[in-house]
Amino acid sequence: MRAARLAALLLAVAAAPAPAADYAPGRPLESHDGARLDYALKCKGCHGLWGQGTPGHVPRLDGFVGLFTHVPEGRDYLMRVPGVARSVLDDARLTGVLNWVLATYGGDTVAPDFTPFTVEEIAAARLRPLEDRKGLRDRMLAELRARGLLAPDDDGIGTSPEPRSVAGR
Ligand code: HEC
Repeated sequence: MRAARLAALLLAVAAAPAPAADYAPGRPLESHDGARLDYALKCKGCHGLWGQGTPGHVPRLDGFVGLFTHVPEGRDYLMRVPGVARSVLDDARLTGVLNWVLATYGGDTVAPDFTPFTVEEIAAARLRPLEDRKGLRDRMLAELRARGLLAPDDDGIGTSPEPRSVAGR
């Protein structure tokens, strides 16, 4: 049931024109609710409304975050990365926002056998600090490249920061 719902959601996301996020244009942010609002208030500042990230600084989630579900350490990493684990959101709301992120921005990059995060596993995982997260991330990206799932020059972050002042954001 849950898998079917997720599949339907992914199909809907895949069929929609880019960008993938389902904010209604012109609708005030406050009129959104649940995980979408939590994302907007707690994650968007760094990862962007469309999950596009902050080039040169913060990874894009759109079309990228799901790749971590293909490697054994990835599930644990997604729950323990500081932006997630140290969020002020409580365990239940954090679980909601992380599952929403995977469903909305993961798209067809999510592994077919991925099952949504549970509140219990997030509650436990977020308490364990992530040591050497850059080294771990680099190793996972190397594995994804070796398996042909990620382009050699793509690290999800990019090396040339966008001139944000020029872009007027
Ligand atoms: C202060 C900026 C900031 C905020 C706020 C933030 N993040 Fe992040 N996030 C990052 C950075 C930078 C990384 C890259 C890993 C690292 O260095 O910690 C990251 C990595 C991630 C990753 C792993 C993806 C990858 O490519 O490594 C996920 C998933 C994620 N963040 C989700 C979230 C969610 C969900 C929220 C809101 C609850 C959030 N982040 C809030 C900056 C942020």
